Parts: sequence; structure tokens; C-alpha cells
Amino acid sequence: MFSKDSTIGVIGSGAMGAGIAQVAATAGHPVIVYDSSQQALDRAKTSLESTLKKLAEKQKLTEQNAQEILKRTQYASNLEPFKDCALVIEAIVENLEVKQQVFANLETIVSDNCILASNTSSLSIASIASACKKAERVVGIHFFNPAPLMPLVEIIPAISTDSKVTEASKKLIDGWGKVTVLVKDTPGFIVNRVARSFYGESIRIYEEGIADFATIDWAMKSFGGFKMGPFELMDFIGNDINYKVTESVWTQFFYEPRFKPSLTQKRLYEARWFGRKSGKGYYDYKEGAAAPKALEDEELGKMIFYRVISMLINEAADSLYLQLASKEDLDLAMTKGVNYPKGLLKWGDELGLQNILNILTDLYSTYGEDRYRPCVLLKRMVTKGENFYSVN
Ligand SMILES: NC(=O)c1ccc[n+]([C@@H]2O[C@H](COP(=O)([O-])OP(=O)(O)OC[C@H]3O[C@@H](n4cnc5c(N)ncnc54)[C@H](O)[C@@H]3O)[C@@H](O)[C@H]2O)c1
Repeated sequence: MFSKDSTIGVIGSGAMGAGIAQVAATAGHPVIVYDSSQQALDRAKTSLESTLKKLAEKQKLTEQNAQEILKRTQYASNLEPFKDCALVIEAIVENLEVKQQVFANLETIVSDNCILASNTSSLSIASIASACKKAERVVGIHFFNPAPLMPLVEIIPAISTDSKVTEASKKLIDGWGKVTVLVKDTPGFIVNRVARSFYGESIRIYEEGIADFATIDWAMKSFGGFKMGPFELMDFIGNDINYKVTESVWTQFFYEPRFKPSLTQKRLYEARWFGRKSGKGYYDYKEGAAAPKALEDEELGKMIFYRVISMLINEAADSLYLQLASKEDLDLAMTKGVNYPKGLLKWGDELGLQNILNILTDLYSTYGEDRYRPCVLLKRMVTKGENFYSVN
């Protein structure tokens, strides 16, 4: 369906669109980028030039290669040049009505066999596709930030998507050197759903007065091998973005208690304590601010780690049970999309599913809250003595 000569269109030249354009042009395609803001287009152009210059200086690509990528990337002030595109990836503002309008408009310009993709993080692909006459050509292609560096791409067919469109999109993006996973059109897809407990359960532990931010971060790094603790990571992502994603996943899952946002993070969001970018979040980033010390108590640290990892493994198990994705893709997504040291299902096997189930059962009976209910699949597997990847 696609060749190196296939023109790729990118709509939106912000953080994601600019990165996706760079990936496609580096893979050898002619690329056309459009943004409703001329300023955003100019910024994307300057930024690509400086990125390629740096890469050439570091000898990550040749000077000639850099020049060719620049030449292959064109910028348009309207959608007219998109008529020759084989694939268009939309990466504009996260607003359903605006995206639907852009897709409906795009369909009047592109050829009949052009595939239309959205990079949305939180909207349903089915609802975006519903704005198109040929909804079967619309698919989700979800890159992670920054797109040129993060290997994972989630491929999300809607119920209306033609399987040939899904297959062709997956094959194309694989060919760009990315790691693709196939995932059902459900809120948060894999990564933004399965990762919720990393943040939510850590905040809950803090809210209960069990440990402070620094101690929880220390526990997850020391006993789990995570590169960043949950509070460091939320401050890095931005508490505005992280809070909104949690709220969106929770409401879209019809207020599922496992995804319930916390007042702690909501207050940070309201106070504009977004994290690193605002100078203050869970931690203080002002110059000279003292970093709080973790209480390095091994017993407490292990308890924190096991509680959070059990919630994460439960979520991954539930995602497998509900056929969100294959077990291999669920594990790949977490290692390649958010740098987890291990896939959660594999991790569950290593820690012992019986141990994980015991922790969850204990939490469930102690708190009596639905968020701690163990997944049916986990219970069945423990009863049968099974693991995710091998039989005991
Ligand atoms: N930032 C992330 O970490 C991330 C990761 C994965 C997916 N996403 C998704 O990617 C999309 C873009 O996110 P971003 O972070 O790049 O946003 P951004 O704000 O950096 O860029 C969005 C761009 O879209 C342009 N735009 C807005 N309305 C437009 C329209 N009608 N037509 C053409 N251009 C328009 C804006 O001018 C802006 O340049 C969103 O759907 C978001 O959910 C973001």
C-alpha cells in the first residue's frame, strides 16, 4: 500500500506533529506539514533545521542526509497540497469537534485511498472517524513524546476501521524503525490506562500518611528499578497534563474507581504547581531549594513497592482479560512507551502471581473499595497454577 515515495501529510506542527514529520522524512518520505498557525509552522521548520544540524555534528547522520531530509519536508499554509498524500497524520489540539471538522474537511481534498490517522491521546477513534464519509479509512496512530526518540507507537483500529488500513499502517510504522503495538479503541489505549496506578496508588499512599513523596519515589526506584519515582515523573510530565489524562480516563471508563483522580493532584493543578515547567510541583525546583530526604526504611520501601506494583500488574491482567491487546504487546508498550524496567505481566510471573493476588485480596478486604478488587483472570490463573508466559 505504501512505498518510500508515498507522501505523508502531517496536520499540526506542535510538539507531536513536528516530531512525527521528522520521523517520516527521516524514513525517506516526502512530507507536507500544515498548521493553522504560521508561527507554529515557522517554529517547526527552525527546530527541524537545528535538530538535523546537531545530529550531523554528532555524526548520527551525514550532512547530505540532513539536507535531503530538509528538502523532503515541505510546509503548507493550507490543505490543498494534501491531495497527493497516501497517509495523513493529524496532531492538532485535543478537541473532538475541532478534530472532526479537520477530518471532514480533509476528506474533500485527499484521494479515495488515502489513510487518515489521528495521534489523539484520549479521544475515541470511532468518534473522530464518524465525521468522515469513509470512516473505514480512519485509524489511530499514537506516537509518544518526543516522537523521534520514543520507540513505541500504538496502532488503534476503531470498530469502523478496515483491517487492511490497520495492517498497512502498522507495516508502514514498523518500517520507520518504531515498535508498534495493536490496541483496542478504549480510553488511554495501553500506556495511558495501565500506567494510571503508578501515579494514583502512590498518591493514595501519600494521602494516607504512610510515606512522603521522596520516600515513595525512593521505594519505587530502589525496589522496582524505575528510572524515576512517580512524583518525580508527574512533575516531569506536568501535573496539568497528568491530572487531565487521569480525569479523562476515569470519566470515559464510566467512573471506574481504579482510575479515580486524587484531590491532592487536583489542588496542585489548580494552584498551577505543574512541576518542573512551573518551578514547583510535588517538589520545589527553584535554585537553591533543598531536596527532601527519603526515609530509607527497607521494610516500608518494600511495602510501598509491592502495593503499587500489584495494582499495576492487576491493571495489565485486566487489560489482557478484556482483550485490549496481546500479552506481548501489553508488555512491550510499558517498556518501550514509558521505560518500565520490565513488562508488567512478565514481572507478575517473576514476583509470583499468588503473591500479587494475596496483596490485592488483603487491600480489598482492608479497604472494602472496588479499586482493589483482583482481576478475574489473575484469580483463575492462580487457582490453576498458571503464569502469563509459562505453566508452573
Ligand atoms: N504532547 C504529548 O505528550 C502528546 C503525546 C501523544 C499524543 N499527543 C496528542 O497529539 C496531539 C497534539 O499534541 P501536541 O502536544 O503536539 O500539541 P501542541 O499544542 O504542541 O500542537 C498542536 C498544534 O496544532 C495546531 N492546531 C490547532 N488547531 C488546528 C487546526 N484546526 N488546524 C491545524 N492546526 C491546528 C496548533 O497551532 C499547534 O501548533 C493531541 O491530540 C495530543 O493529545 C500529545
